[in-house]
Amino acid sequence: MSFPHTIDFGPEKEELLRLKGEGERVMEWETVALRAVKRTDIYDFFKVEANRELSIEDLYKHTHEFLMNRYNRLLIGCLSSEDTTIGDISIREHEDDEFYFGINMKKEYRGYGFGTKLTQMGIEYARDHYHDLVDRLLLKVDTQNQRAVHVYQKAGYQIIDERPYVAEDSGCERTQYVMEALL
Ligand SMILES: CC(C)(COP(=O)(O)OP(=O)(O)OC[C@H]1O[C@@H](n2cnc3c(N)ncnc32)[C@H](O)[C@@H]1OP(=O)(O)O)[C@@H](O)C(=O)NCCC(=O)NCCS
Repeated sequence: MSFPHTIDFGPEKEELLRLKGEGERVMEWETVALRAVKRTDIYDFFKVEANRELSIEDLYKHTHEFLMNRYNRLLIGCLSSEDTTIGDISIREHEDDEFYFGINMKKEYRGYGFGTKLTQMGIEYARDHYHDLVDRLLLKVDTQNQRAVHVYQKAGYQIIDERPYVAEDSGCERTQYVMEALL
């Protein structure tokens, strides 16, 4: 897939990127750090997230979703000592007025404890920035994704519900947990 070298988001999104502190570090904890997304990340982290090739239109659509909602944050996990991307976390406001957490680690950085740390940092971030708006973070995870369930529990989430859902990729009916972390 080839990409343009620069991305013109247009004035409105440029302003939102500026307000959201494009590329700035927002939190650091021992070996890992979180920083605001910057436009050149999109090629990298969308591959992390989707694990499939995305069109430029998909990238714009996804970026739009994160930028246009004031509270939605997409934060990049990197090593404290350098800017190497290890994964990304997202905090999104949904139509039900709840805030939802998501995480994707790059394959080569899984299994080193980074995912647990970034999940904990996501809770801290929400505590610092969204506590006035919500008193919890929610997430949904397939019940068979035992590694993620373990990591979420270790980081402070609890299972509060179990329900059927239809998987986007396969269209199959599966089961997911709804988990919450109190802020
Ligand atoms: C899930 C994910 C975020 C975890 O990140 P990570 O950096 O690999 O996790 P960590 O290294 O911090 O911790 C992994 C833990 O899971 C445990 N684990 C690994 N495989 C497991 C399994 N099959 N069942 C239960 N626990 C498992 C490990 O032992 C470790 O726990 P411990 O530290 O208590 O020993 C990462 O693997 C990922 O991005 N996966 C793909 C995307 C995804 O599933 N996202 C969540 C969607 S809701």
